[in-house]
Amino acid sequence: MDVNVSGKLGKTEMACYFITEERAKDIKAGKAAVPKPIKELIKAGDFSGKDDQAEKITGDGISKRILVIGLGKTKDVDTETIRKVSCEAAREGSTLKLKEMTIVADAKVNDAVAAVAEGAILGVYKFDKYKEKKKDKVKLLNIVSGSASAKQEAQRAKTIAEGTNMAREWVNEVSDVLNPVAVAELAVKLGKQHGFGVKVLDEKQLKKLGMNLFLGVAAGSRFPARLVLLEYKGSKDKPVAIVGKGVTFDSGGLNLKPSGFIETMKMDKGGAMTILATVVTLARLKAKVNVIGAMGMVENMIGPNATKPGDIIKGYSGKTVEIGDTDAEGRLVLADTLAYLSKNYKPKLMVDLATLTGSVLITFGEYVAASMGTDKGAADGLFKAGQRTYERVWELPLYKEYDEEMKGTISDITNLGYKQGRYAGSITAGAFLKKFVGKTPWVHIDIAGTAWYEKPRGYIPVGATGFGVRLLTEFLTAKG
Ligand code: BES
Ligand code: ZN
Ligand code: ZN
Repeated sequence: MDVNVSGKLGKTEMACYFITEERAKDIKAGKAAVPKPIKELIKAGDFSGKDDQAEKITGDGISKRILVIGLGKTKDVDTETIRKVSCEAAREGSTLKLKEMTIVADAKVNDAVAAVAEGAILGVYKFDKYKEKKKDKVKLLNIVSGSASAKQEAQRAKTIAEGTNMAREWVNEVSDVLNPVAVAELAVKLGKQHGFGVKVLDEKQLKKLGMNLFLGVAAGSRFPARLVLLEYKGSKDKPVAIVGKGVTFDSGGLNLKPSGFIETMKMDKGGAMTILATVVTLARLKAKVNVIGAMGMVENMIGPNATKPGDIIKGYSGKTVEIGDTDAEGRLVLADTLAYLSKNYKPKLMVDLATLTGSVLITFGEYVAASMGTDKGAADGLFKAGQRTYERVWELPLYKEYDEEMKGTISDITNLGYKQGRYAGSITAGAFLKKFVGKTPWVHIDIAGTAWYEKPRGYIPVGATGFGVRLLTEFLTAKG
């Protein structure tokens, strides 16, 4: 969807207005200027600005149709409200098979223009690659705004929303198509296209480096492992490393997942796909940041070579890990990846995103991601970026008692601590990772709940949500 910004309403197939209850009263009293059909609608008592109202009426000379959507009470209207109503408007335009439509962005909230663009672009996304009949989508969205910076805001929001849709598309893609090798090839292609560096470490190089925890997860798969490193250098600062768990399918390994849990496990690459989409987005924005993206790509399967429960493996850091459960595989991939980055890139901060534990769903459902780590400032920055983007994160404590729970009996560390992983599951996974980050400041974000929706909610579709692209982009480019 293209986005065009102008100062005043031009000829259009459909003009959309978002109106609060207070504004509707003013319009009724003749105190606010809006097109005549809206005035008449409100005067007739057919619209009062309540948040569940939407009316489509015949327009005037300029707009063919007018869509009015209620925002509710002014005090309850925020950026997220605007994203939601904008999504509603764009979907209506798409249903009507319009090529073009207009949204009047005059709501008095922060970043209204950005929210309009975001809500619309995120809202019309659908994974229809495998459908014979594709959904109609509005091609051009005109946004009317008087704000001087509206053009830049809309363009930036568009790029970030497109990045989110990229991540959604990749996470929704089936696991045989986007297998670890295919993801590495995709990254190389995107690096050339958008101007960032890509290094791919294959299974032989990983073996030489001693990344045996990483390789152990891939041992049962017909697809070899790949560590994909993305280098986007938009500034001369020390780099920030963003790291993603990229398990293209998590069968659980020999600790096989049961029916009801295994079906959606192509989503276990969600962290890595968010990292790739974020780096593409930063490059497209020409952001002045220095970022290393790392994607730990493996498939967790069963076979004669598969890692077995009870195996003891020494990874890149030199510490030994007893495999208590082959389904706790994400932490193994991340352990070697974080240790490698910490040692070889010396980043000023590492942030990893991973669909790491079912436990985070028990804690927060699909609404909030769990953060934990060793850098309070970065955790706070991510919290704030989460509030702004509505990709919300909440910090859990990594107290030393949890570290104790991850100590091994016959090895240095176990991958399955504290009541077979059942107590404080998200935190003990974080405590495991902490043992591999060295001295590098680090924040881990568990997105197992937020990366995938079992049903659609507002501008977030069913399936892959693309969670993290907006959060990370906001965090990395935030000014203060
Ligand atoms: N990929 C799963 C986590 C997951 C669960 C993601 C549900 C999305 C939805 C992860 O690899 C896993 O299986 N974790 C185990 C760890 C346990 C064995 C300690 C879990 O959460 O059950
Ligand atoms: Zn697993
Ligand atoms: Zn997993």
